[in-house]
Amino acid sequence: MSKYDFGMIGLGTMGRSLLLNMADHGVNGAGFDKDAAKGAQLETDGAGAKGNVKGFSDVEPFVASLNSPKAIMMLVPAGKIVDEVIEELLPFLDKGDILIDGGNSHFTDTNRRVDYLEAKGFHFFGMGVSGGEEGARRGPSMMPGGDKAAYNVMKPILEAIAAKIDGVPCVTYIGPGASGHFVKMVHNGIEYGLMQLIAETYEVLRNGLQLSNEEIHDVFAKWNEGRLSSFLIEITRDIFTYKEPGADHLLVDDIKDEARAKGTGKWTSQIAYDLESPITVIDASVSMRDLSKYKAIRVKAADLYTQSVALNVDKEAFLKSLEEAFFFSMIMSYAQGMFMLSRASAEYKYDLQLDEIAKIWRGGCIIRSKFLENIYGAYGKNKALEHLLLDADVVALVQGATQGMRTVVSSAVSAGIALPCYSAALSYFDNFKTANMPSNLTQAQRDYFGAHTYALNGKEGFFHTQWMPKS
Ligand code: 6PG
Repeated sequence: MSKYDFGMIGLGTMGRSLLLNMADHGVNGAGFDKDAAKGAQLETDGAGAKGNVKGFSDVEPFVASLNSPKAIMMLVPAGKIVDEVIEELLPFLDKGDILIDGGNSHFTDTNRRVDYLEAKGFHFFGMGVSGGEEGARRGPSMMPGGDKAAYNVMKPILEAIAAKIDGVPCVTYIGPGASGHFVKMVHNGIEYGLMQLIAETYEVLRNGLQLSNEEIHDVFAKWNEGRLSSFLIEITRDIFTYKEPGADHLLVDDIKDEARAKGTGKWTSQIAYDLESPITVIDASVSMRDLSKYKAIRVKAADLYTQSVALNVDKEAFLKSLEEAFFFSMIMSYAQGMFMLSRASAEYKYDLQLDEIAKIWRGGCIIRSKFLENIYGAYGKNKALEHLLLDADVVALVQGATQGMRTVVSSAVSAGIALPCYSAALSYFDNFKTANMPSNLTQAQRDYFGAHTYALNGKEGFFHTQWMPKS
């Protein structure tokens, strides 16, 4: 019986595509899925590839078909299914075998599994995989963290299948423990923020400037030629051309305005609060997905309140400001995410190399963009950079886009157009760049009603005041 180099559990779109990508690079891959049709699909799609692929619907022969030490990746929905798959596999594994979780697992689950599997003598690492179906098939960005020895065994295969930028693979060892899944979670948080910024841009274009879908397409097409060039702008451009066969209008116009989520954006916000690292753009994006779900209530409210009005502006000049505003907000979104990574690195001792993370996000992943070159450059020249907004080149870019940002936010807000992520980006910036936030007053209030004490400028220690005579 021929033996396979690599095993994949879960032959959904991502698992099958990754295995086919490996087969293109000469890796013989076995795939397991309880649904035998998916194994058959794998074999059909993989016919003629450099490596052989075979589908299994029983665990035992699947595991037995692998060379030792066995290397198996799970690509199944996050949560208890991952634990169930692990339990199903364990009786057939030998000490020294390698197990990889390539799904979007919560990093605390990965921490638990790292300890559990290490204690049993297995190598385990969690790896974020980004790029959707096309990325998995042609070259994803991958964020492996945990067991470094096991990663090194897998490194040649992972580097071969990864996206490449100037020949450099978009995969690198991230750090210990669950750091790979942590970094992927923050990647997804940034993804949520950028997607909401694009949605708000669409709102400004269609309701504020009253542009047609064709004109909106042209705006995104133009943006994608310049400094905003990115995967998300590119697919948005294409969405504004897509009609179903035989239809006379765009599909996007028929899609219900209720956004769903699998949870990674919410987790990013939850953990950001734990780490005390503000990610206001991501927070707003998570909240707006949630608000969108209350369609029935929004429909009632629409009858009760005055709606937004068209912008009374010079179109060409405003579009120039809008490009600046998007650039500005995009920078804030990445900057907040990178800062969260630096806080996590200190808190969880991940020793994250932010330049390396920016490097592997330049290709293959959903948040890939031209601007990631700037981020890579900023952290590359100063590995101890405290915050992306302190980098001299970034300062110049932000300064150059600030006026456009203020024009867009103030005009849209006056017209009643909701810009929660743009506004969050601007307010974050305006507070970030001030040496004097109004938080002295918050401290005074806390001390007034709760004797929580305050610190004084230029003095050591904490103080309490009896603000009013006791009654
Ligand atoms: C990626 C994506 C991928 C997935 C998201 C979608 O990097 O390839 O982020 O992981 O598309 O999980 O997330 P939501 O369903 O929460 O929007």
